[in-house]
Order: sequence, then structure tokens, then C-alpha cells
Amino acid sequence: VIIVIKNRSSTHLGIRLKTIADMVDECEVLVDIGTDHGLLPIYLLEKKIIIKAIATDICISPLEQAKKNAKKKSLLNKMDFIVSDGLNKINKKFNYIVIAGLGTRTIVNILKNAKIKLNKDHKIIVQSNNGCYLVRKWGYLNGLIIEDEKMIKENKIYYEIIKFKFDDNKNKVLYSENDLIFGPILLKNKDLLLKERIEKEQEKLLDIIKKIPKNKTLETRNVTLKYDRNKEILDYLNL
Ligand SMILES: C[S@@+](CC[C@H](N)C(=O)[O-])C[C@H]1O[C@@H](n2cnc3c(N)ncnc32)[C@H](O)[C@@H]1O
Repeated sequence: VIIVIKNRSSTHLGIRLKTIADMVDECEVLVDIGTDHGLLPIYLLEKKIIIKAIATDICISPLEQAKKNAKKKSLLNKMDFIVSDGLNKINKKFNYIVIAGLGTRTIVNILKNAKIKLNKDHKIIVQSNNGCYLVRKWGYLNGLIIEDEKMIKENKIYYEIIKFKFDDNKNKVLYSENDLIFGPILLKNKDLLLKERIEKEQEKLLDIIKKIPKNKTLETRNVTLKYDRNKEILDYLNL
């Protein structure tokens, strides 16, 4: 009996990256900011969802790995590898941007610096590692609307993925504070993973509330506010 163990780690997309890939529309050039291993653009090229990819990273060593991965798939002629902080060094034309696996403040900074290079033809997919409020808020204040949103769970971690496009009519879409915190589409769809995530958070918040000494009123107030807001959303999701 011959057992073949395939090493999937170098090319296998996990649930998170696969969900992001599924949200990308067919397009010509996609920039993957902070590409690291380059797995996302390689997959999109292989599936012919995109024609060319610009893989960028702030560090050179991930890009070298991405290059090796692309070479294995004979995709070097369809990819550019550029060391760049966000879009700073990108002067070629592109249609799509993906920024995944970075912190929310880094993502907002990248978007702020990239704003001058962005226009109505661009779509942006973002997956932050630590919450999406600031990213949604930045998008909202800068003429973007949320076309799609997904929540996934990989290795017990919840991830939100947001697809933005530019709003043709700035006054048409209005987001409430709850939309920006929890995600307008996740709320509208009464997303089950969103519900699960909030329920887990509520357990932790209750624990914290019980442990805060009685004299720490400000801390109690902040945690209680969060608990109450979550409760309001859970009541809505449970309707
Ligand atoms: C955790 S990896 C995420 C890789 C891949 N995007 C994913 O979602 O699996 C983050 C990568 O972003 C790169 N990075 C961090 N800050 C960056 C920035 N300002 N511009 C471009 N790349 C950045 C890091 O060097 C690292 O390779």
C-alpha cells in the first residue's frame, strides 16, 4: 500500500482565504496588499478569475516566498511582486484591491494613503484581524458602500470580510452606528456566525462585569454599555 501525503500547506487556501477568493468578481488586475505567501492571487489566477496580479508586501522575504509559490504554478509571467507599504509604490493600473490578514488600524492607514489612487472603477475587499468598525467607518466617510459581507470561523476565530464599492449617490446609503459595528449586511441577513460570536462575547463580558470591583464605576459602565448594545442586537437577531 502506498500512502501519498500531499503537502497542502504551501498552496492550500483555508476557509478564510477561500471565502475572500469567492467574493472577488472576474476582473483584469488585482492588487493583493500584504500578500505574504501569495496564495490568494495564485489561486485567483489559476481559476482565471483575474488576468494579472500585483502581489505587494512591506517586507521582501514574504514576496520571495510568494515568487517561489507562483513559479511552482508557472504563473510568474502573470504576476508582479512589489515591495510597498500599501499602495505607495504601485503605479500600474488595477481594478481590485484585497487587504487581508492585517490589523484594522494598518488597513485604515493603507486606505487613507491609497485614497488618491482610488476611484469608482475600484472594488476593495478587506479582512481585518481585529474588528471592522474603523474600516467600515472610514469607508462610510469616504464614499464607499458595502456590497457584500461575510463572517467565517476558522480555527475557532471569527473573521469578517467586507467588499466595498464606491457609492454612485452619496446620500443613498445611510449606515447606523450598529451597522458600522456589526456590519449592515451581516445584520440584514441575521448571520448565524455573527449571532454566535456575540453570544460568546456576552459570556465573557458578564464574567468581567462580575469581577469589576464595585468602586470602578467607569469601567463597569463601559463594559455594561457594550453588553447592553450586544443584547439589543441579539434580541434583533433572535426575532
Ligand atoms: C498575516 S500576513 C497576511 C497574508 C495574507 N494577506 C493573508 O490574508 O493570508 C500580513 C502580511 O502583511 C504584510 N504587511 C504588513 N503591513 C503592511 C503594509 N503596510 N503594506 C503592505 N504589506 C504589509 C506583512 O509583511 C505580512 O506579510
